[in-house]
Amino acid sequence: MITHIVGNRPQFVKLAPLYHALEKAGYEQNIIHSGQHYDENMSDVFFEELAIPAPYVNLQAGGGSHAQMTAKAMVGIERELMEKKPNLVILYGDTNTTMAGALVAAKLCIPIAHVEAGPRMHCKENPEECNRVVTDHLSDILFSPDEQSIKNLRLEGLHEKAHMTGDIMYDTYLEITDKMEQTPQEEEVIVMTWHRQENTSSKERMESILHLVEALGEKVICPLHPRTRKCLTEYGLWEQAEAIDNLEIIEPVGYVEMVALMQRAKLILTDSGGVSKESSFAGAKCLFMMDVDIWKDLVNIDWIRKVNPQNKESLEAALAFAKEAEHIPQDERPRFYGDGHAADKMVKALQEGHLL
Ligand code: UD1
Ligand code: UDP
Repeated sequence: MITHIVGNRPQFVKLAPLYHALEKAGYEQNIIHSGQHYDENMSDVFFEELAIPAPYVNLQAGGGSHAQMTAKAMVGIERELMEKKPNLVILYGDTNTTMAGALVAAKLCIPIAHVEAGPRMHCKENPEECNRVVTDHLSDILFSPDEQSIKNLRLEGLHEKAHMTGDIMYDTYLEITDKMEQTPQEEEVIVMTWHRQENTSSKERMESILHLVEALGEKVICPLHPRTRKCLTEYGLWEQAEAIDNLEIIEPVGYVEMVALMQRAKLILTDSGGVSKESSFAGAKCLFMMDVDIWKDLVNIDWIRKVNPQNKESLEAALAFAKEAEHIPQDERPRFYGDGHAADKMVKALQEGHLL
């Protein structure tokens, strides 16, 4: 039995291709949902759209502080793994759910595979960095989305258990875009997502992001993460956000709608690790609202431009970058993240490593 442990939006996107590839190869699997994300449009919609079977259990560990959430997930995961005794646990990305799974499975001596191993932001204040480092060190086999991640793992002495498979999010992207109907040419827009703790935990920071949006002066569509909606309200900034003429705030959207939005984007404004990379699949350059290391290959070719909205020079440079942005045709997009067959490579590596 193989157990996948997931709990939030980006993990559902990463799970789908590997679940399907293992199913095709005839392996028995089940899914534990930590409950970290729980709204219908943050969880269920992804299972439906990506045809992932329902988790057999939901640990309802969402909400609360990092420690509360991680501890609650750990207690539930331990109970489930002790009862079902899987031969392999598969973890995804860098969230509290990922690290909870790693700590529990390692102590129960269950082999761990980590999907999306090796990205490093080189900044311990970023909560996900703690989760990534712990999970990579405790895992038995590592699947990396790009060459930069392999280099990072080498620096930590982890490269011998690492496999460069390419990015599994690209598998999902191709699978869905293959099935999507061609939509009529729609107006180009700027697509925005915003949810990082670093960008939602101070009023000044949130205000500076709103000013950046306003200064862009072109239509920005923002499917807003529930965390950000709550923080805007708590800081008394909700009316200010709603009053920005060029900003359209909508509820978080399912994956299919998100891809459709990115495909009509001339620019993506985000602090998301996943969305900043997907920008290169969909053909929109990216303004990244965090000052941490991120997808270095895309930064090096100036596909991703970092912006600190609280710094005047950085803000002005970002506005100039946005002014020049336009939707990039398929054959001019960079290709750093594999060939869209990451899941098949993972299955093969697991078989060759006798983990299946
Ligand atoms: C988490 C991950 C982050 C990932 C993001 C993907 C950690 C430390 N963070 O951040 O790495 O990029 O998921 O989206 O694991 N909320 C709801 N409904 C939901 C989910 C969340 O209302 O369905 C609200 C709750 O108030 C919750 C807050 O959002 O307390 C934050 O959620 P949480 O899962 O802690 O962090 P994310 O910002 O989603
Ligand atoms: N996404 C989505 N709907 C949204 C926002 C994001 O389907 O409203 C998708 C996005 O395309 C990507 C994943 O969710 O596949 C990224 O999740 P998120 O930005 O929440 O997390 P991160 O990648 O920062 O960990």
